[in-house]
Amino acid sequence: MAQTDFAALTQAAREAMQRAYAPYSGYPVGAAALTEDGRVITGCNVENASYGVGLCAECTLVGQLQLTGGGKLTAFTCVNADGETITPCGRCRQLLNEFAAEEFRILTPRGITGIDGILPEAFGPSDLQEVSA
Ligand code: THU
Repeated sequence: MAQTDFAALTQAAREAMQRAYAPYSGYPVGAAALTEDGRVITGCNVENASYGVGLCAECTLVGQLQLTGGGKLTAFTCVNADGETITPCGRCRQLLNEFAAEEFRILTPRGITGIDGILPEAFGPSDLQEVSA
């Protein structure tokens, strides 16, 4: 898959969405991403009777990232039950920031942008290094 083949990535997200467990919200989400070494990884939301414990599709995706070899993400997109592109929630933007490669691109309803386009002035791993002992 080419690095910016968002049509294929959207299709992978749609297939992942079919695996969602979303009985409480009735809002299944699927996510798909490309890794630096060419893997396509996916995630779906997994809700819980204790509502606040529910996992967004991005949560299970970053779990898959680690379980399948780790590394960074170069491209990402997520979809709703209609297969339409949606934007990650605020918490999941932070999750993506942690694993975004330099060349990270995300397809949003308004087009393709970088991590800065969805999470400006992000707090990230480097901030933890910038305090004196
Ligand atoms: N959801 C995601 O999986 N990812 C997002 O970025 C937006 C929201 C899920 C959480 C919940 O299971 C359902 O969508 C409704 O908010």
